[in-house]
Amino acid sequence: MITREEISQLIAEYNLKRLAIGTIGSHSALNIFKGAKEEGFKTVCICRESDTIVYKKFPLADEIIIVSNFAELLDDKVQEKLRRFNTIIVPHGSFTAYLSTEELMNRFYVPMFGNRQLLRWEADREKQAEWLRRAGLRLPKTFKNPEEINCLVIAKLPGAKGGRGYFLANSTEAFQKKVGEMIRRGLLKKEDVAHIHLQEYVLGVNVYPHYFSSIIHDDVEFLGVDKRYESAVDAIGRVPAAEQLEIDVSPTYTIVGNIPLTLRESLLPELLRMGDNVQKTAKELAPPGIIGPFCLETVVTDNLEIYTFEISARIVAGTNVGIGTSPYAYLKYGEKMYTGRRIALEIKEALRKGRIRDVVA
Ligand SMILES: Nc1ncnc2c1ncn2[C@@H]1O[C@H](COP(=O)(O)OP(=O)(O)OP(=O)(O)O)[C@@H](O)[C@H]1O
Ligand SMILES: [Mg+2]
Repeated sequence: MITREEISQLIAEYNLKRLAIGTIGSHSALNIFKGAKEEGFKTVCICRESDTIVYKKFPLADEIIIVSNFAELLDDKVQEKLRRFNTIIVPHGSFTAYLSTEELMNRFYVPMFGNRQLLRWEADREKQAEWLRRAGLRLPKTFKNPEEINCLVIAKLPGAKGGRGYFLANSTEAFQKKVGEMIRRGLLKKEDVAHIHLQEYVLGVNVYPHYFSSIIHDDVEFLGVDKRYESAVDAIGRVPAAEQLEIDVSPTYTIVGNIPLTLRESLLPELLRMGDNVQKTAKELAPPGIIGPFCLETVVTDNLEIYTFEISARIVAGTNVGIGTSPYAYLKYGEKMYTGRRIALEIKEALRKGRIRDVVA
């Protein structure tokens, strides 16, 4: 486990006047780079050859490090280069998608904006639930055993990314039948069945609030909200019911994009308190808690109950809807504030106050 002291030592060797902000070229990289540029930082993009077109058409990366595979972030050569550019890495969803939690915690010797210790809490579904419950959030019920299913459930396959292969079931029998089919079709391994996570399916609309935990200001800010545009679930409503039955569709949740959202104002008090409480609990779990952006994944029912089923303790791609500005960022900051820029601003303020070590790990 790389300690904060080790990261402090790396920072001690940095030229803080020439700090760069770096990330993997995907997910929310444009958001992060634009924000860094607007706050006067240099930028470094770790990129696959086939994706360089993005950073040519949107020239926001001052340095591009080409890799054939993002696992090369673990190579000494790449890490040395990043340190030579005085890079602070802003982690996003691609980091955990391509590297394991262990690799990020133990083998990535580059300062990261954020709290590495929390990765462990985020990576594990049970630990996440414990964190959110301790923060007083409302969670969907979970079922340890398929025999207990007594409502519509969403079955989450282990290691599935972006909800691929998730399915719904209304009873124990329906669950067993679907599992049988999936095994037969090679979509599921027998040994994985015991690891399927069964969660009450909450009927409502999805709402993803974006927060920013500022260590410098000791405050949790509310910067925006999005909802997801998911294939095929968002397409099913366009097929009439009769044909749906004929083709036996089941919803899948491959994320294609995000849609900006504003909420009825009466939802804000609870959402704001939720953000504060998540950070308060995080502080107890792994001080100083979340450093920078985080997002909750929620479903809001017709009773206006907010159910949280996941947390990301880092920038999420949904914040891309706020590039430029979002209504909520506007309310606090006026124009031109968004998550990527808010990160750079926090780094800048930390530098000015001699507290850069407080925002990296
Ligand atoms: N308990 C639930 N009730 C209703 N819908 C849910 C529930 N859990 C998940 N969903 C729906 O399924 C989608 C995918 O779920 P989830 O976010 O858990 O997958 P994931 O693998 O974590 O994906 P990602 O990493 O992209 O967030 C969600 O966006 C949401 O629309
Ligand atoms: Mg999710």
